[in-house]
Amino acid sequence: MIPFFRGTQWKFPDLSHRAELVEEMDRADSPEDRLFRTLAQFDPINRRFSRYRTLLNRYVLSDMTSARPRRLLDLGAGGCDIGRWLIRQCRKRGLELSITAMEHDPRVVRYARAACRDYPEIEVVEQDIRDPLPLAKVDYVFANHLLHHLPDQACIALIRQIDRAAPRRYLLSDMLRSFWAYCGFALYTAPFFRDSFLVTDGLASIRRSFTLAEVGALLHAAQPVNSVVLHRLMPCRFAVIGGTAL
Ligand SMILES: C[S@@+](CC[C@H](N)C(=O)[O-])C[C@H]1O[C@@H](n2cnc3c(N)ncnc32)[C@H](O)[C@@H]1O
Repeated sequence: MIPFFRGTQWKFPDLSHRAELVEEMDRADSPEDRLFRTLAQFDPINRRFSRYRTLLNRYVLSDMTSARPRRLLDLGAGGCDIGRWLIRQCRKRGLELSITAMEHDPRVVRYARAACRDYPEIEVVEQDIRDPLPLAKVDYVFANHLLHHLPDQACIALIRQIDRAAPRRYLLSDMLRSFWAYCGFALYTAPFFRDSFLVTDGLASIRRSFTLAEVGALLHAAQPVNSVVLHRLMPCRFAVIGGTAL
């Protein structure tokens, strides 16, 4: 136990297993202004740490040609900052992509629709991703920081459902649960990201997330029929990449 403030004691969290925690942003009664600030703050955090540009460049943009319009499903899309970046890249390169951004929280849906008003290529749909997904005619499936929101069985069912639908590529990326991820996130975010849930929920997310071995076990249980690889990405991240065009 480390004395933290007088009268309180702080204990480094147990990272030996996935923690069962509810994040503030997932509470239906969490203050909307803080929720919306959290969604806005995902943008700089994603740009610096989530490696989505590398993944989407390598596995989606490089697979597209101007001759063929493509469709992408973004699961648990949050404020859609990643989808908007991808559409801007497509516009620059003369590529045609339509994105269905899926979210279960009506407040997040409202925020994302407003954020995407200049992006007719993005449709924001309110749906729980645990319900059957509209995967027919989808070329790419993407999810960033979604898996840790789901219990193991739901992750397995999701991976299996996506894999069986045989999209060209699917990319499921999230944080690894580790001492360094926890300390690094706390040190980087605590001084700068205020009046939002970003710091507390980010730390809770790391505690809810996976080790590389646990992701491997989920993949094993999902029994994908298409090629799939598990990448470790710096800093403290993983990406499951699968699909028919791998
Ligand atoms: C940590 S945020 C990540 C948002 C975005 N993908 C990003 O990287 O910035 C996770 C998002 O998944 C959504 N989410 C969690 N569980 C979900 C579910 N069962 N169905 C649909 N969306 C879900 C949450 O509402 C939240 O917006």
